[in-house]
Amino acid sequence: ELRQVDFDCLLAGYLLNAGGTVSLSALALEYVSDADVSDIEGSSLLVQTLREKLLDKLREIAQEQKPGKTVLDVFSRVEMPLIAILRAMERVGIRLNGSILTALSKEMEQEIESIQKEIYALAGREFNVSSPKQLSEVLFVELKIPTTNLKRTKTNVSTASSELEKLKSEYPIVALVEQYRERTKLKNTYLDVLPRLVDAESRLHTTFGQATAATGRLSSTDPNLQNIPIRSEWGERIRSAFVASPGKLLVGADYSQIELRVAAHLSNDAEMCAAFRRGEDIHRRTASLVYNVPPESVTDEMRRKAKAFNFGIIYGMGAYGLSQSAGMTRDEAGKFIEEYLEHFSGIRTFMESMKKFALEKGYVETELGRRRFLPEIASDNRQVAASAERMAINMPVQGLEADIVKLAMIAVDTCIRERFAGQVSLLLQIHDELIFEVEESIAPVFAHEVKGVMESVYPLQVPLVADVSIGKNWGEI
Ligand code: CTP
Ligand code: MN
Repeated sequence: ELRQVDFDCLLAGYLLNAGGTVSLSALALEYVSDADVSDIEGSSLLVQTLREKLLDKLREIAQEQKPGKTVLDVFSRVEMPLIAILRAMERVGIRLNGSILTALSKEMEQEIESIQKEIYALAGREFNVSSPKQLSEVLFVELKIPTTNLKRTKTNVSTASSELEKLKSEYPIVALVEQYRERTKLKNTYLDVLPRLVDAESRLHTTFGQATAATGRLSSTDPNLQNIPIRSEWGERIRSAFVASPGKLLVGADYSQIELRVAAHLSNDAEMCAAFRRGEDIHRRTASLVYNVPPESVTDEMRRKAKAFNFGIIYGMGAYGLSQSAGMTRDEAGKFIEEYLEHFSGIRTFMESMKKFALEKGYVETELGRRRFLPEIASDNRQVAASAERMAINMPVQGLEADIVKLAMIAVDTCIRERFAGQVSLLLQIHDELIFEVEESIAPVFAHEVKGVMESVYPLQVPLVADVSIGKNWGEI
């Protein structure tokens, strides 16, 4: 157990320059001057000096912020307490049933082979579908699929997914290539790889990045357990290989629509706040409008797609992006976005005020005081400035979401120490979702408890709701 760590230069550096590369040497070069160095004899003194400089800098920023909601508070109340929690999660790991994945891999191989056969039949010959060069030759030279709207690489017409996307509804072979790629990727990144990474107890250990994401979110690497697919049937089957140990169960707790609730809270938009107070589901509402069906007839698939539209509109995906993913014309998409921002007019005002704030100050921050510097918002390059504008809207929302989930992890950790010591381990954080492994007998009690903690950890103007579920594996929950 990690104890008595009271300062971390990496985390301080991260809070001072979220999204930048943080390393001890880079920080030392930036914050410790030659004059300081001439007095320094050993590296521990260097770190001591760096620590003081970083603390000074954090204090300097905190001076400009609201008391209790400063970057220094984020440092000491959120990031520092999280270190030991994340370390414990990494060490515990999650149990993997490797034989499930091995069986899935065999099944997947057959599916890939049969897709391949169909591709060969349509192509009129065999070739290596994974080779962009050969694929380009087959599609655009031999089958003469028109290439007017497609990008080119140095030597060929591009077969990037973004380009093939434009052709897939018209050319069955292109749709098959997409399926082939999706399945090959799942097989190569998860099915064949994860079983090799487990320890002697069949547990898989990720590494959490606490100083990586510019918004304040965590990252997960080696392996990345935050982007196991959720959408497809295959995603669920892969998740079913993540299991509870004998005598235990998994408890999952997922915040419902937390980013939109945060957006409602920050923008104070009357319509969106009222909808959440009535217990409505905005993803469902958007789906019902886009697909023109009554809310109760919205399918899971429609709701899932509508999520991307809600996030997309708020974070500036634009009419073209929406038209591509919703299968609308550009005009229809433009009109939809216009009506959306008319209806939730507070969101539009919020978006404008964040851009203005960032342009004036050169940074944005979350309600808790976490800051992200965005000097490039003043760039003469329109593309660079536009991308900074999207970040200026995204960061205060996604960053507050990240802050809330981190606070929830700390609160739940305290609750576990006090009431469930030795019976519960927090295993994973997937942005707005926490996964625990618990003694079978206490699962319902703990699930109820964790829901209460998560929903009350940071009061917003609208209710925070966490959905909890219990199961033998991640697929079930
Ligand atoms: N997300 C995204 N685009 C999507 C789906 C999800 O950017 N199409 C991101 C968002 O940051 C979102 C997070 O992933 O907050 C969690 O996704 P999810 O739990 O699926 O979204 P919720 O809005 O919480 O919806 P639900 O009520 O289904 O939990
Ligand atoms: Mn969610």
